[in-house]
Amino acid sequence: IRPDQINAAGHLTIGGVDTLELAAEFGTPLVVYDVAQIRDQFRRFQAVFEQNQVDYEVSYASKAFASKAMYQVVAQEHGHIDVVSGGEMTTAIQAGFPMDKATFHGNNKSATELRLALTHHIGMIVIDNFHEIELLSQLLTELDTQTDVMLRITPGISAHTNEYIQTGQVDSKFGFDLDSGQADQALQQVLANPRMHMRGIHAHIGSQIFEVVGFEGAAQKLVSVAKHWHDEFGYTTEILNVGGGFGIKYTTDDHPLAPEAFVDAIVKAVKKAASEANLPEPGIWIEPGRSIAGPAGYNLYTVGSRKDIPGYLPFLTVDGGMGDNIRPALYQAEYETVLANDPQAPATETVRIAGKYCESGDILSYHQALPATKPGDVLAMLDTGAYGYAMASNYNRNPRPAVVFVENGHAQEVVKRETWSDMARLDQDYNL
Ligand code: LLP
Repeated sequence: IRPDQINAAGHLTIGGVDTLELAAEFGTPLVVYDVAQIRDQFRRFQAVFEQNQVDYEVSYASKAFASKAMYQVVAQEHGHIDVVSGGEMTTAIQAGFPMDKATFHGNNKSATELRLALTHHIGMIVIDNFHEIELLSQLLTELDTQTDVMLRITPGISAHTNEYIQTGQVDSKFGFDLDSGQADQALQQVLANPRMHMRGIHAHIGSQIFEVVGFEGAAQKLVSVAKHWHDEFGYTTEILNVGGGFGIKYTTDDHPLAPEAFVDAIVKAVKKAASEANLPEPGIWIEPGRSIAGPAGYNLYTVGSRKDIPGYLPFLTVDGGMGDNIRPALYQAEYETVLANDPQAPATETVRIAGKYCESGDILSYHQALPATKPGDVLAMLDTGAYGYAMASNYNRNPRPAVVFVENGHAQEVVKRETWSDMARLDQDYNL
């Protein structure tokens, strides 16, 4: 947190609003986004491309956090989005997002999803596999339409990060394999279909990456594929999409590069490789999700019970947990948490922050230094904006929290809190 986020009362503020007021007005657990920070991250990525004078898109990977409000903010920033399901697409359409600035990803897109994409004239479909080429070709004929496409390849680069979230190694469910000639075959099939306009090549190497080396490798790999396709099939690639994965700082142990450094390295690597390969300079697309939504998000919780066990760290239990943020339980992800009414108070103890879900693994933090707390105090967990609410569940039939956007001293609820009766909304009485 920045010094200017502490107000005269000594409380943590987000977007100029006191977090204790947010907790009182909207309840807890509460997900809060600092909209100015979302905009700022977007602009930082875009600025580096502008300085380097390349054709580009900053395509927000909306799996990190999707909601109508989020899509509307991205539209205001002239961003592009990446969607991976009919649900994300429908939300974007309902938000009024210009679908010609959307890319559809996925390794098993259904016919219904592809139809929705085509009828809304989606800007780009990233083809992942042979089944999809076949299915898409049928649908294009059925709907008598055309579409821009990219081919996703498996670059064979594994970024060094948590093994649960690697998607770039050769043994991956995503994309066409290069060495076996499958990618070449896919290209020939796409080029042979006049309804498919082959625009570029996509690769995604992983997530929460701190160094540029993996991206430089991916850029070189994409250019080498472009070169091969140019020489072998006379096809000139217009766009290289290097995916997302730019790491963010969750704790003091994390040392990711700045957005500018990632983009700068990618642009330089592409330019160098393209010029060495005697290819025209392609446009460059990136797909940041975590780095746009993550740092802007906060989860507010209210402290409840406490358990002290001689010889162990105490459990401090809050009113949320794995239902609103499964990342600690699933990936051993770590976050920093502060006391909202005095975020700079010196720590007097180290606690484990436990959730309220009926599962021993429902621990949000295994070691958090905090000042003394009492029931009713509000805790703010920082940098929760990516893959937190997006991966929320109704485990134990706990309602999902509300989401509030805050900007210039104003707060607006952009996703309502679910209610207990919502938990039975889809249920039917059994009467056979
Ligand atoms: N593009 C593609 C094709 C992707 O598969 C992903 C993420 C992204 C972009 C965005 O990556 P980012 O910039 O957010 O790292 N649930 C996991 C993360 C899964 C990421 C999956 N793909 C987590 O909570 O850490």
